[in-house]
Amino acid sequence: MKLWAGRIQQEADARLNDFNASIRFDSRLYKQDIGGSMAHATMLRECGIITPAECDQILTGLSAILRDLESGELGIDPESEDIHTFVEAELTARIGDAGKKLHTARSRNDQVALDLRLYLRDELSAVTAMLRTLTGVLCDKAEEHTETIMPGYTHLQRAQPITFAHHLLAWAQMLLRDIGRLEDCYRRMNRSPLGCGALAATSYPIDRDMTAQLLGFDGPVLNSLDGVSDRDFCVEFVSALALVMTHLSRACEEIILWCSWEFKFIELDDRFATGSSIMPQKKNPDIPELVRGKTGRVNGDLIALLTMLKGLPLAYNKDMQEDKEAVFDACDTVKMALDAFTPMVETMAVNTQRMRAAVSGGFLNATDCADYLTRKGLPFRDAYKITGTLVAYCIEQGETLETLPLEQYRQFSEEFSEDIYEAVALETCLNSRNVLGGPAGEQVRLQLADIRDQLGAQ
Ligand code: ARG
Repeated sequence: MKLWAGRIQQEADARLNDFNASIRFDSRLYKQDIGGSMAHATMLRECGIITPAECDQILTGLSAILRDLESGELGIDPESEDIHTFVEAELTARIGDAGKKLHTARSRNDQVALDLRLYLRDELSAVTAMLRTLTGVLCDKAEEHTETIMPGYTHLQRAQPITFAHHLLAWAQMLLRDIGRLEDCYRRMNRSPLGCGALAATSYPIDRDMTAQLLGFDGPVLNSLDGVSDRDFCVEFVSALALVMTHLSRACEEIILWCSWEFKFIELDDRFATGSSIMPQKKNPDIPELVRGKTGRVNGDLIALLTMLKGLPLAYNKDMQEDKEAVFDACDTVKMALDAFTPMVETMAVNTQRMRAAVSGGFLNATDCADYLTRKGLPFRDAYKITGTLVAYCIEQGETLETLPLEQYRQFSEEFSEDIYEAVALETCLNSRNVLGGPAGEQVRLQLADIRDQLGAQ
């Protein structure tokens, strides 16, 4: 028998049930649903809407249901329409009439909005904690590699020397912003919709501040229509998650490149790599590829939510039931990705020689050569042009800026003297970039301390 039997006289068409039901995916809200109901019942008692005895029965009944669900003694009935219906029916089956009073001054519309906020609040905190752990791992790895010189790239062409630490901390900075975005999102999400009713609140003298407080919210949502129809907290959350995946995906792309034999900058630990079914020599980066691939799912979840909301009139519409699969999928995917990504980065081996060799061959010190001439008084544009010609000459001669004899340097400019070798030495190029945010060891150590500070403070 359906909840709404009364106005609707006929049994629903059997073909409608599965289509209409959400129990398949919203059963994971059972804990939030029970917790929300306990706060609601407590408030009903405090406001004199139900008796203390009824409230006791409800609270004891709900705790028992929670306990039995967690122990596996009670299974969720897949024939229920949704988790809210299931818990209420189970309660009434156990305690009788008092159970039927639980839904006084409440609607499934504010109930579902509440459950989802409670659930996502926890998920958001879990993801934030995982991001913090990952950022810490990046900091530890960076600390080991403040002197590990490697090429920095633009257009995937060797550009200027940096260190591995500097590169890893660039990832860490992205993650810090992701954490910040999630925390912003939490603040807006953390308002209680309970008491908004179906759409127009209730005529019972309820205390919405009390339920908000009992459930750890910063306060109630202040418009009942908005409280039951707002899902921008879902969009915001999934959009922050999509950026997390985008950041992980970019890092994964680099990891995939770096463990190719063309680069060989890193090697994944055997526990985080896979083999081929036919090619015995293969060690494949399936984990970073999957993280990169799963980014598409989360982007899809975001688009699904935005599209679902677009054009919905106020207040609740059944379309909104579609919010859950999208947010759940986005949370699950990001947590799985972080679970794999963090230990993979933690355990990967770094080939510092290969990184150094890649810096040596590619004229990454050409800018420094031009800067050298500028310091001798040439305008930068002229210095740039001379250095460009010089590089072309070196390539032709099979030389580098480090090895080219001074007489040959001087054919390009009289300003070159013995100290050019010091100026184009890779360590000089790196350590002279000692400005705020630069790759010089001193700056990277400052940056590292700052990131650790932020992680500690949050
Ligand atoms: N299962 C529904 C959902 O997830 C709960 C709210 C139902 N409300 C309603 N008016 N049909 O959205």
